[in-house]
Amino acid sequence: MPQIQVQDRTLSCAEGANLRQVLLQEGVQLYNPPAHIVNCHGLGTCGTCAVQIEGEVSPMGWRERTRLSLPPHQLSKGLRLACQVQVFGDLKVTKWLGMWGEKLPAAPPA
Ligand code: FES
Repeated sequence: MPQIQVQDRTLSCAEGANLRQVLLQEGVQLYNPPAHIVNCHGLGTCGTCAVQIEGEVSPMGWRERTRLSLPPHQLSKGLRLACQVQVFGDLKVTKWLGMWGEKLPAAPPA
């Protein structure tokens, strides 16, 4: 059973589970305001469920690739849309800043 590290928590889910559904069911704050109110509810069109993922997940499909190619996203950032991702192994999930989760958090001062 895959384990997901997110926001200082560790969750378990079934292999193949939809990442967005798992995070929302567990009360994880997947959306940054105001996207927690205004989002596409998993259709893969709004882009606000974007997260950084380390671990084994399903490959990117055309819908996800298309949305992540449009501003404010950039495919080169390597983010994924949680609503389009199936969990296939242990993950570390990080939510970035900004309404779309597209802004990399500043590194802490050295
Ligand atoms: S919820 Fe809109 S793209 Fe994922």
